[in-house]
Amino acid sequence: MEKIDLSKYKKIVFFTGAGMSAESGVPTYRGQGGIWKEYNFQEYACQEAFDRDPEKVLDFHEIRRKAVLECYPHKGHEIIANLYNRHHVSVITQNIDGIHQRSGCEDVVELHGSLWRVRCPVHGISKDLEPGFKNRKCPECGNWLRPDITWFGDMLNADVVNKAIAVISCCDLFINIGISGVVYPAAGFPIHAKDNEARCICINPEFPADIEIYDEFIQGKAGDILPKIFC
Ligand code: APR
Repeated sequence: MEKIDLSKYKKIVFFTGAGMSAESGVPTYRGQGGIWKEYNFQEYACQEAFDRDPEKVLDFHEIRRKAVLECYPHKGHEIIANLYNRHHVSVITQNIDGIHQRSGCEDVVELHGSLWRVRCPVHGISKDLEPGFKNRKCPECGNWLRPDITWFGDMLNADVVNKAIAVISCCDLFINIGISGVVYPAAGFPIHAKDNEARCICINPEFPADIEIYDEFIQGKAGDILPKIFC
């Protein structure tokens, strides 16, 4: 497999989805064993569900937090983190699990929010890093604290989307890893990179929905392919 010559690129963007964390043991959303096959998102991952039964939704997210803490960054995460610290690399992710940060990437653009933050409708966002939620209600006003995650039916945070677009606009190598390519606006990011003449690579064991956009499709798992193309 041909190695990527980093000296040719000024700015690299890794755009990652659930497939990036799959080899760490975090289930994906749509494939075999995917979260939305086991759990009905209408009961666990939308504002209506939270309004109806906040405890049930928080219990579900607490299970996910505990499960994620038993998962660890894999070789692919380490390679991205190593590049992140040596080159002009940005990481944009749809993942809410925080595994890129645990592998050493400090500033990750988290498109769909984070399992490790909660949001009070009055007092805003705060970090909550313990396995179980420290508080389920805001200590100041008593409102329920909802996970700071983009659920079904939510708008993405416009500032975060704009940051992602700004970063992609100035990259000359765009590497998409483990994204099914069906969820917008993220599915438009590779098109945006291509419009800006970046070389676009997709790494995925399955053919993604948007395969025709890429200059190269490398079929395989993130943890197998990244060491081959970057080491
Ligand atoms: N390496 C690379 N890619 C992989 C791997 C792997 N080891 N294993 C699976 N994949 C690929 C699958 O083939 C699929 O294309 O990862 C993709 C996972 O797709 P989804 O589960 O749909 O994940 P994603 O695209 O990140 O989902 C988008 O949907 O419900 C929401 O908010 C949730 O962020 C999520 C969003």
